[in-house]
Amino acid sequence: MSTQSTPTNVVIVLGTRPEIIKFAPVIRECIDREVPFTLVHTGQHYSPDLDEVFFDQLELPAPDVHLGVGSDSHGKQTAAMLEGVEEVLFDVEPDVVLVQGDTNSTLAGALAAAKLNIEVGHIEAGLRSFDREMPEETNRVVVDHIADYLFTPTSETREYLEREGLSDRIFVTGNTVVDAAHQYADVAAEKSTVLDELGLEPGEFYLLTAHRAENVDQLDRFSSLLDGVAQFADETGWDVVYPIHPRAQNRIDAFDLEVPDAIRLVEPLDFLDFLRLESTAALAFTDSGGVQEETCILGTPCVTLRYTTERPETVYVGANCLAGLDPVDIVDAGRQMLGKRPDWDVPFGDGRAAERILDLLTAPTSPTAGTIPAETPQ
Ligand code: UD1
Ligand code: UDP
Repeated sequence: MSTQSTPTNVVIVLGTRPEIIKFAPVIRECIDREVPFTLVHTGQHYSPDLDEVFFDQLELPAPDVHLGVGSDSHGKQTAAMLEGVEEVLFDVEPDVVLVQGDTNSTLAGALAAAKLNIEVGHIEAGLRSFDREMPEETNRVVVDHIADYLFTPTSETREYLEREGLSDRIFVTGNTVVDAAHQYADVAAEKSTVLDELGLEPGEFYLLTAHRAENVDQLDRFSSLLDGVAQFADETGWDVVYPIHPRAQNRIDAFDLEVPDAIRLVEPLDFLDFLRLESTAALAFTDSGGVQEETCILGTPCVTLRYTTERPETVYVGANCLAGLDPVDIVDAGRQMLGKRPDWDVPFGDGRAAERILDLLTAPTSPTAGTIPAETPQ
């Protein structure tokens, strides 16, 4: 970490649905404190229901720069973003570039900055699935090792970073997903009409999301996952609502995959409607990172349709169970988690992560490497 003066001119790089949601509290904090920032959207996500709807609902300013990169292979997509972000950095000359999470947009933003010797702050640093088959794992590891500020959510993730020799740049802040969930769960309960629209009774339906490349891009894995969830749902006769990510919808179409009757496909939902379903579902089945976190925060038991997770804290506290993709295991996990009392502690912080990140970035002197504010969640 450099000993330069405290950064005040920030570039924020984002590109996908979860980055927009998890950056929202940070952007709001920048606006409230009048910290100058330039918002760069890579265009990795562009369908209105993965992108625009979140800017509108979370009342975020329109991006200052939109790179319009779109979908492509990993190399081409990341290269186009790298080139685009670098242009912006030449122009803006920021003190720090902030990236969040583990997407190709995260990698491109961090790499473009690091190559120009501009400081990088990685929000949600330190997560590890230890599964290098996931493209996200490569992105996480690379970004953590080139970043200057590792804003890590938990003591678990801090330990991973320490073991990788990065102790001098870790700041445990909590995860901004708690900030976002706290800010919007009550609004969702008040304003969302999604239960009526879908004809659902609270506590008498299941929620499913599945979009990970390693699950939905392979026919046998995707159909096994759907069969397992449907078999479990048939035991109670309750519907499974699956707001489907375009990657998964594309695979269903390409494979001509027959989705079991118990599973109702709906379009991707906006944040308030999705939070409402997460809060009121009897159980969530997912391969999403953000959904594992949010269900834990909102008190809904979760079954993760993967063999590894970079959010093991959710399993340790009893909110989540790793089922894998075998239908027998999915049914077992569903039985184990259904009706579980949500008496677990939330391991991701207290909803003030964005505040801490901005405190650190705007401190009168550069934050001391490795310091952890006393009130930080451990
Ligand atoms: C990306 C991230 C993943 C994250 C997810 C959040 C990487 C490597 N993956 O996965 O970590 O969990 O976003 O949702 O960065 N598509 C559309 N409209 C869009 C975007 C994508 O139709 O707005 C379709 C395209 O067919 C595209 C496919 O979805 O080829 C995959 O999109 P991509 O951004 O490559 O990866 P995600 O699966 O969205
Ligand atoms: N989400 C949403 N509508 C949906 C599905 C998900 O608003 O139909 C939100 C969800 O609340 C969470 C985020 O999207 O905040 C998770 O994104 P995703 O699962 O696409 O990515 P991951 O977290 O796996 O990277």
